Amino acid sequence: MKFFVDSADVKEIRELSELGLVDGVTTNPSLILKSGGSIADVTREICSIVAGPVSAEVVATDYDGMMREAAFLGGLADNVCIKVPMTFDGLKACRALTAQGRKVNVTLCFSANQALLAAKAGAAFISPFIGRVDDIGLDGMELIAEIRQIYDNYDFGTEVLAASVRTVNHVKQAALIGADVVTVPPATLKALVKHPLTDKGLDAFLADWAKTGQKIA
Ligand code: E4P
Repeated sequence: MKFFVDSADVKEIRELSELGLVDGVTTNPSLILKSGGSIADVTREICSIVAGPVSAEVVATDYDGMMREAAFLGGLADNVCIKVPMTFDGLKACRALTAQGRKVNVTLCFSANQALLAAKAGAAFISPFIGRVDDIGLDGMELIAEIRQIYDNYDFGTEVLAASVRTVNHVKQAALIGADVVTVPPATLKALVKHPLTDKGLDAFLADWAKTGQKIA
């Protein structure tokens, strides 16, 4: 499973990238707002750190506007993946951009049928939003499982990118189901390494080691 970082925070992305944990990045207009930078500067900088796909989202809602914005965003770096919303105009733009050889991430997916449409439009990635589905009392993970099954039934090449991840358990469940990619906020990605028994065990080993009076090197 690939790990993408769901962030436009260049410092965090650099740190995680140095740990070898970043296969790609997803941004959105809210994350760009939070970064405080311009979409062009932030996207360019992220693309200089991460070699994998970096999703940058269009904000136009009509096809022509999306194509104009996609041309701008795509011109920022070769690894920019254009993010379009799950609308008919978004799907039309997805098909056209894919034909131009650009990777497209269809975002704001909340149903298996929407994911089916994105795959038929040639999307490189579909982004089902787990956390936001959970927020309305439904099961986001069930959505990932349905999409996985449908894509496998028909051998669609579109990658299932589990998004709106809020917990480490979301990451585990998405991996068990077979999501191709999970995009995770930096704090959640860092939390994956934590376990109280690891900390406790390490403390005990270090305490015993100190009693030996030895040095390894
Ligand atoms: C994915 O590409 C989105 O940027 C993101 O996962 C949305 O997450 P949220 O629901 O926590 O805003």
